[in-house]
Amino acid sequence: MRIPIIAGNWKMNKTPSEAKALIEELKPLVKDAEATVVVCVPAVDIAVAAQAAEGSNIHVGAQNVHFKESGAFTGELSAAMLKEAGAEYVIIGHSERRTYFGETDETVNQRVLAAVNAGLIPIICVGERREQREAGYTNALVTYQTMIALTGLTDDQIRNVVIAYEPVWAIGTGLTATDEQANETIGVIRKAIENRYGKNVAADVRIQYGGSMNPKNVKGLMAQKEIDGGLIGGASLKAPDFSAVVNYQN
Ligand code: PGA
Repeated sequence: MRIPIIAGNWKMNKTPSEAKALIEELKPLVKDAEATVVVCVPAVDIAVAAQAAEGSNIHVGAQNVHFKESGAFTGELSAAMLKEAGAEYVIIGHSERRTYFGETDETVNQRVLAAVNAGLIPIICVGERREQREAGYTNALVTYQTMIALTGLTDDQIRNVVIAYEPVWAIGTGLTATDEQANETIGVIRKAIENRYGKNVAADVRIQYGGSMNPKNVKGLMAQKEIDGGLIGGASLKAPDFSAVVNYQN
């Protein structure tokens, strides 16, 4: 049985003091959650967020990681740095990084390896743009993105990663994939993992849906067999909204 995982992606929102306040507000609201609860915060918020979350069921994540352990990479952060600051998870390959910061499937793979080797759990984002869906390439594309991202990991390491299926056309747009579309594409991703790594590995990997998930649509999405959670942008920035998503079973 896969434990659902609901992760907030705060993107470039919240200063450290705002992060502390939001986590303090969230703690009582999410304390009985059946899902794993994660907040992926800006890097400068990680330490204060981890401190605020200590002793609670809220886990802290980062939003990107560099693939080298150290060296002359001005402005970058290593997996060990994020981990020591208090991160347990890290989003890798978000479509905003692919679109604005030159992220490729190959650099996603390098970041995933660096994260896993340092003991961080990667939340690997895959998903198609609107024109790719319309052209009928969705299944091939998410299969390719997922297979490249997982290259070089052992079966046991793959069991522990989280994948977020985020159709790019649904991110921040208010458009959501239908429950059936999301379930079908996540099924394709799981089948691709099964074909390459076997049924047992595929059965353990948690695959989230992301893209305008909110308190209103979460129940329908989470009722789908293949969907193991959500990566939540806009609706993760306010405690009442995020906690309503986290507590979707209520
Ligand atoms: P959204 O963002 O919920 O605001 O659409 C999701 C994401 O980008 O992870």
